[in-house]
Amino acid sequence: MTTPDTSTEFAGRVALVTGGGSGIGQAIAVRWAAAGGTVAVLGRRKEALEETVRLAEAHGVSAEAVVCDVRDHVAVADAVDDVVTRHGRIDALVNNAAGNFVVPSEDLSPNGWKAVTDIVLNGTFYCTHAVGRHMLAQGGGTILNVIASYAWHGHPGTVHSAAAKGGVVAMTRTLAVEWGARNVRVNCIAPGPTETQGAGAALWPTAEARADVLASVPAGRFASPEEIAESAAFLLSDRAAFVTGDVLVADGAQWLGKAIYTDPLART
Ligand code: HXC
Repeated sequence: MTTPDTSTEFAGRVALVTGGGSGIGQAIAVRWAAAGGTVAVLGRRKEALEETVRLAEAHGVSAEAVVCDVRDHVAVADAVDDVVTRHGRIDALVNNAAGNFVVPSEDLSPNGWKAVTDIVLNGTFYCTHAVGRHMLAQGGGTILNVIASYAWHGHPGTVHSAAAKGGVVAMTRTLAVEWGARNVRVNCIAPGPTETQGAGAALWPTAEARADVLASVPAGRFASPEEIAESAAFLLSDRAAFVTGDVLVADGAQWLGKAIYTDPLART
């Protein structure tokens, strides 16, 4: 196997990134563009998407904003068909769009449950279904789902998101096997606490909450969106050609550090 030139490894390829107007989604879209790829960013807020388009175009590639709510399966199918018509193909899909808020489960309304699970679980499937059909027809592609480690260890206050992301892991593993022989790879990335406005506002809105989160990360810091995008780029690239059905955890060992007992080493 020859080592590919990573600086242009996405040249001639097209990516669709959902939730690409901010945070991790924006960073992944820009990272894709920096390696020469064409990118379409899909989301609800036109202005935010256009900011990503500007950042991507600065790398000399073609980029476009697609205004669409991933909860609307008809709109998703139309939007995906439009991207394929304009660019001829989609080589990479990043299911990054998410919705989240912290609430005691007993206070979560059915509509609140539905809002989050519709975005995270149903939206991921709608996009995967629409794009996956094109990938199968064109002979391959790669799909990356952005999740969180509470998909398997759970987390108080985020039952909607944890349940939905657990479903996305099961979807990932199922499709990796179902589509593996047809050259479509499907993986997850599980970022830990990342310095983004969206996650901060939803999950650590106060200085105290932020300090608690920080204390839970053995690496002692938050991730930057760019370093999460770097790991995502690996999974999306041919460097990960034999990796499918897997979850790459990029969390500074946060979830492994969840202690059942107090840390005896902390007392020495
Ligand atoms: C309780 C809430 C609530 C809150 C909304 N709801 N916020 N309930 N506490 N803080 C309830 C509403 O009361 C309503 O139910 C239902 O949810 C739908 O709310 P809407 O605002 O009408 O929905 P909508 O405008 O579609 O917004 C969807 C959303 C919103 C999920 C609620 O937060 C959103 O769009 N977020 C996108 C951005 C985001 O959240 N990013 C953070 C992702 S970070 P009722 O019953 O009143 O009608 C992330 C990282 C995880 O996921 C990893 C960490 C390590």
